[in-house]
Amino acid sequence: MTTTHDRAGTGAAAAPAADAPLSVLLREGTRAEHEAAEGSPFVEELLGGRLTVAAYTDLALQLHAVYAALEEVAEDVRRTPAGAGVVFDELHRVPALEADLAHLLGPGWRERATPLPATAAYADRVRAVGADAGAYVAHAYTRYLGDLSGGQVIGRMVQRHYGVADAGVGFYAFPAVPKPKPFKDLYRARVDALPLDDAGREAVVAEARLAFRHNRTLFAALGERHRAAEPLAG
Ligand code: HEM
Repeated sequence: MTTTHDRAGTGAAAAPAADAPLSVLLREGTRAEHEAAEGSPFVEELLGGRLTVAAYTDLALQLHAVYAALEEVAEDVRRTPAGAGVVFDELHRVPALEADLAHLLGPGWRERATPLPATAAYADRVRAVGADAGAYVAHAYTRYLGDLSGGQVIGRMVQRHYGVADAGVGFYAFPAVPKPKPFKDLYRARVDALPLDDAGREAVVAEARLAFRHNRTLFAALGERHRAAEPLAG
């Protein structure tokens, strides 16, 4: 979309040194992937009001499978010495997604919850890296920090364009995180405290790039299924 932003106001900085904090390496190391995900046609069309409630609902259904994997793995991660500090219950999205889907599709929504192959591949990857705290952070960072940032715009645009009630966009509301900015600072501090050497930190960044690519692949699959309305001939 045209609102390409300057994430955290850092501009087009040179690559950070290998011994920079992991949160800095993550932000800088996924900058290009973020721009690509943000510019996915499905995301642009959804935000531009050219899709339908059905497309938004499908996104929520697919994300449900992804967050179910993330939040399942989080239970193992929190029991590891390194992982305890990076699992935040206040971020968990499965309960909100389930409430949204019940609102959008009715109580039988689970019968319609068939993950796309792209979703299944994404969820499989999250489960495959399992309780490794660094890899979990790569996946959790990519989704939850995004939800607390650009996700806030997405929720508002979905309401505006498709008339979805608050009860259908609870996914974008974080009642337990009333102030995203200090929370994101705390999150970054916990990420930076992970006991990782340079190679370990680089592996986390590589996994986060992969997480972004899974998102892009998922958006491409959703874009195939939900084509934007043709613009009116003028
Ligand atoms: C239209 C779509 C999007 C918009 C408008 C958007 C916008 C933003 C903005 C403004 C920030 C900076 C927030 C801050 O500095 O506190 C941000 C950060 C972030 N976004 Fe997005 N975003 C979008 C899509 C996505 C997607 C699809 C993902 C991943 C699946 C994502 C992941 C992230 C992450 C991980 C951060 C945190 C960066 C950091 O500070 O380390 N975003 N986004």
